[in-house]
Amino acid sequence: MAIQHYLQFTDLGADEYAYLFERAALIKKKFKAYEKHQPLADRTLAMIFEKASTRTRVSFEAGMYQLGGSVVHLTTGDSQLGRAEPIEDSAKVISRMVDLVMIRTFGQDKIARFAAHSRVPVINGLTNEFHPCQILADLFTFIEHRGQAGQASPLDCLKGRVVAWVGDGNNMANTWLQAAELLGFTVHLSTPSGYEVDQAVAGVRANHSYKVFKDPMDACHGADLVTTDVWTSMGYEAENEARRKAFADWCVDAEMMRAAKPDALFMHCLPAHRGEEVEAEVIDGPQSVVWDEAENRMHVQKALMEYLLLGRLE
Ligand code: CP
Ligand code: NVA
Repeated sequence: MAIQHYLQFTDLGADEYAYLFERAALIKKKFKAYEKHQPLADRTLAMIFEKASTRTRVSFEAGMYQLGGSVVHLTTGDSQLGRAEPIEDSAKVISRMVDLVMIRTFGQDKIARFAAHSRVPVINGLTNEFHPCQILADLFTFIEHRGQAGQASPLDCLKGRVVAWVGDGNNMANTWLQAAELLGFTVHLSTPSGYEVDQAVAGVRANHSYKVFKDPMDACHGADLVTTDVWTSMGYEAENEARRKAFADWCVDAEMMRAAKPDALFMHCLPAHRGEEVEAEVIDGPQSVVWDEAENRMHVQKALMEYLLLGRLE
């Protein structure tokens, strides 16, 4: 049987997302009630970090323990990965000893090569191109806040919505576009010139589920959700100064939030830089759901790990 990896958002279908959102809600409810939920007893997750992390590490590690399993944590600095052992060899060895692998690395090609030689499912914990676990959490958070009782599917609440992306055409933006195309909402993209989304990298069709705006205010107009991310992603630090200048007008402020719908939410995957990509009054204001968004990483990833290893459980 083919192994189900989660390397980008399009690796799962709409039906599977509907299941995962329902399952994550159940898993979260049990967690809040201190009810044990340990379907992954005796299973091991290897986490490989080639870039820094707070949320991804804590959410996967705590989540796996809560599911009854255990975790092995590897970084480039303390494993042979940093001493040029071929990625294919690392994949063959690691995947003989664990049940699941999560990788945070640079190029998507690296995680794809690892997955091609892995005996077990591989999860993308962020690459230069994509951050699917974060969008999984963001959509779950939106559904939690805006879903209505009686909707047949959790996906109903996403259909026809407008998400304003203000900032870099980065891994988060690419993943939002994939999600929009798959789940039936629209992304209003506003990026500084030179930092646009590359449609081929994002792997989406032109103008199918996104619209490009020069002015971030126009992108926010009528949005159900306004979201942004750091101006300089990990791995691009050398461009920091040039980016500071180019992104100066791409700071989500109260005026942008007023251009959005009155009940619009604000999200940020974090870590955030107040006064750069977002003003403190927005991220710390009443429309912001960033703390739920961060917490939900753990609940959705528990549902994801369970699904990749055990399939649907009713
Ligand atoms: N949002 C996110 O992935 O955070 P970390 O870099 O802290 O893992
Ligand atoms: N775009 C950011 C997200 C951090 C969670 C980065 O890649 O650094």
